[in-house]
Amino acid sequence: MLRFLKPVLKQQFLVIILGIAAGIYYPQIKEHFLGKSVDVSFESAKQQQQQQQEKLFTKEELAQFNGENDKPLYLALLGRVYNVTRGAKHYGSGCEYHFFVGRDASVSFITGEFDDYVEGEADDVLSLKPADLLGLHNWQNFYEKDYEFKGKLIGRFYDEQGQLTTYHHKYLALLEQAKDEKATNQKLREKYPDCNIEWSADKGSHVWCTKSSGGKNRNWVGYPRKLFEIGNSNFRCACLRKEDLDTTEVMIAQYDNCEPLSHECYYQVD
Ligand code: HEM
Repeated sequence: MLRFLKPVLKQQFLVIILGIAAGIYYPQIKEHFLGKSVDVSFESAKQQQQQQQEKLFTKEELAQFNGENDKPLYLALLGRVYNVTRGAKHYGSGCEYHFFVGRDASVSFITGEFDDYVEGEADDVLSLKPADLLGLHNWQNFYEKDYEFKGKLIGRFYDEQGQLTTYHHKYLALLEQAKDEKATNQKLREKYPDCNIEWSADKGSHVWCTKSSGGKNRNWVGYPRKLFEIGNSNFRCACLRKEDLDTTEVMIAQYDNCEPLSHECYYQVD
């Protein structure tokens, strides 16, 4: 009888041991089969906690945080609200940047325009130039770092549930594009360094290349060309090697009245 029961008891014992081990090593097993799911659930718990703490402001609510009646000073940038009371010397009533308080005037961070404030357009940033979007991004990093984040403004960037709006996604896509363009332009500046530039009333603009122009030491001088950068309607003067003069990698143009193989050119700006 006992001999008959032995293998069954052995199997049950094994199942129990495996069960205990699975319990102890559950997080590792889960991580092994589901990748980083353990971290992700922790992250989302953290996010949920943050979401519970942050407040959603209406425009009218935000406007009340203007330092009056013992209220703190809040401002919004790209729909995110910060407590700037610590910087009261800049933002307090009568101070230089009080304009930003109680509203989202993101565009004015770029234009510096505080007088012609158009309600409803002050946070409409999609038509800004790529470099300006990067500028705004820097301002946002500044506020995230230096001031306390208080919540989100319901409107252009966040909906009533505090979720990103379609507009916000468009802004983020343009920002990514601006970052890519900047990286590409930086690489191009390595390959096609800036010329030296000077201006005088009688001769106009004078551009010329040397072995160190554009702050880039090299063993070649190069020939000045107008180089049109991505995302920039203006051109810059770049020094090109002889073998790059017919490049199609970038849009280039010769200076008028300048010898193609001269290291310097003069031109008048109309
Ligand atoms: C687009 C134009 C501009 C905008 C949007 C702007 C915005 C600001 C803001 C928001 C602050 C407060 C930063 C903080 O919280 O600590 C600030 C500070 C300051 N800004 Fe401007 N500013 C502009 C142009 C200028 C210009 C042209 C000058 C100088 C000629 C200038 C000089 C200063 C100085 C000296 C401070 C104080 C820095 C400190 O005490 O830490 N700003 N600016």
